[in-house]
Amino acid sequence: MFQTAPAAASFASKSELHAELALQLSGLFTGERDRIANAANMSALIFGMLPDLNWAGVYFLNAEGDELVVGPFQGKPACVRIAVGRGVCGTSVAEARSIVVPDVHAFPGHIACDAASRSELVVPLLRDGKVIGVLDLDSPSPGRFDEEDRAGLEKAAAIFVDATDF
Ligand code: SME
Repeated sequence: MFQTAPAAASFASKSELHAELALQLSGLFTGERDRIANAANMSALIFGMLPDLNWAGVYFLNAEGDELVVGPFQGKPACVRIAVGRGVCGTSVAEARSIVVPDVHAFPGHIACDAASRSELVVPLLRDGKVIGVLDLDSPSPGRFDEEDRAGLEKAAAIFVDATDF
């Protein structure tokens, strides 16, 4: 049985929290390479461990490479398809880089799936330098994500891609 990860409040710093997240993720993926299973457990772990989130999950790029399709997530039901180049997620794919949005209302073309979302962090899933999807985190608090969160979630995305078959 998976032991519940410690609450965010029990870590002295954000870097300790992200180090523990990486450790827990590696443990969760041990012996399992299915992309749906691993994306589902990653979403649940992130949503349960990181404070102040209202959505955490994965979008996978379709075979044509022109559209993201929602995968496993935690939070309210979300937009199913996002064209590459649209919204924060589609922009992250088009530019193959992670994006921190301190205020979603100020991001041109932001797609509001949950009206409660005020800030967002999107990290591309990169395999052999190619984008295969994104990891998306939303928060109800403005300015929730900083550079440490970006680095921590980029690390989480890399652990997920390495541990998973696509
Ligand atoms: N806000 C995202 C859409 C996905 S939801 O936040 C789950 C975007 O602008 O791409």
